[in-house]
Amino acid sequence: MRRLSALRGGGMIAPPMTAPAKRDLVSIEDLSTAEILELFEHADRYRSDLRAWSDVGRGSIMATLFFEPSTRTRLSFESAMHRLGGGVITAADEKNTSRSKGESLADTVRVVGGSYADILVVRHPEDGAARVAARYARVPVINGGDGAHEHPTQTLCDLYTLWKEKGRLEGLEVVLCGDLRYSRTIHSFCYALARFGANIVTMPYPGFELPDYVLQRLRRDYGVQAAAASVADLPGIAGSSNAAAYLTASKPHQLALFTQLTHVEVNRIDAIYMTRAQRERHSGEETKNYPRLSRSTLGVAAAKDARVMHPLPRVDEIDYDVDDDPRSVYFRQAELGVPMRMALMAFLLGKIQLQAAPPVTFTVAPGITAGAGLRCRNERCITNNEGVRYLTRDFRLRSEDAPPVLACAYCEREVEARFVGDCDSRAVYRYQGELALAVAPHQRVYFESEDQARAAGFTPAP
Ligand code: CP
Repeated sequence: MRRLSALRGGGMIAPPMTAPAKRDLVSIEDLSTAEILELFEHADRYRSDLRAWSDVGRGSIMATLFFEPSTRTRLSFESAMHRLGGGVITAADEKNTSRSKGESLADTVRVVGGSYADILVVRHPEDGAARVAARYARVPVINGGDGAHEHPTQTLCDLYTLWKEKGRLEGLEVVLCGDLRYSRTIHSFCYALARFGANIVTMPYPGFELPDYVLQRLRRDYGVQAAAASVADLPGIAGSSNAAAYLTASKPHQLALFTQLTHVEVNRIDAIYMTRAQRERHSGEETKNYPRLSRSTLGVAAAKDARVMHPLPRVDEIDYDVDDDPRSVYFRQAELGVPMRMALMAFLLGKIQLQAAPPVTFTVAPGITAGAGLRCRNERCITNNEGVRYLTRDFRLRSEDAPPVLACAYCEREVEARFVGDCDSRAVYRYQGELALAVAPHQRVYFESEDQARAAGFTPAP
């Protein structure tokens, strides 16, 4: 090929073309706030006549690789690609794929994201799987939900719905209710809401609070302040007609989040976001008396400007008699998924350009090598499951404080690295020590404990 182009160029060898880096959507953080808002404008354009865009994606093929059940995410992506005029190939049931014979996700996406498809949408039961797919596929990868980690396109649909309903996203007051621990939708939604300066109230079903790593990230990256609320308050906030009623801390040891406020005025609530118990990710936890929103708990007078949201599928968390309430928007969230996903795919396929700048990309901490240093503590992380066979354990440096905090580059679970080793001398130091800080960053290997360092062949420095 090079010879041919040299001949065509009259003997001149053209400089190698640098292809623009592909963009993936693994976390909602992979899009800047301005990009999200610009995508809404494109979604509006597509939504104005869903049948008018069949030239946009002509010639492109999307593959949906769904290793967990789905109705909305997979079918709305497939509908979106058809409406853009592209083709769709799908693996909707892992029993019918070579995954059932033991093929890894990495190999699957290398093959399908080669000549088979121009863009992949992946759903997988393990936390961090979407980042693995993005690393191994040559084409853009969209996370259709990976374990309890993130579900960024659901968040795009949720934000788009709120933006259309409320005309803005800045400073909204949003109550998140139910299983906040295992709901990947909630995790992506929290990060996005915090970026838009929302006041977030969490009302977890007891035992299903937001995970610490999500809280830590919200605190560190967005300065979100902790406060508290109990799910028992739900009928109170939803049904109270007392305009002066406030939601206040009732379980100080639990965390609810507000960006600025320490209380929320009931009549100013913009959205009540209900989630189902994510039983497929539970390990036998009890969910008796799980919260349930009915027409009577919702009331008519209070929270009158609130929108009742749910990513669906619902099980028993919202009574069917709420469906006709004008505040209910959960079917609208699902409906808006098609134009929203059309806009996202058109962007990732390079069919539309955005004016907005992309987010600042993170850097992977240097000197962290497979098996030598940290191990992700999240047992559901892909690095501790199928990835054991082939993944390098990468961490990214989240904070350089002593001890430094690193996050798994796949599932983003954080660890404190109290010890740092020198990969040349194989000596390991407690991080605060001058010697530890003297280890050149590119030679550092981080450890949580001395034992972990010893097991990796490092010797504690005297
Ligand atoms: N909201 C959502 O992800 O729905 P599905 O599981 O049906 O795709």
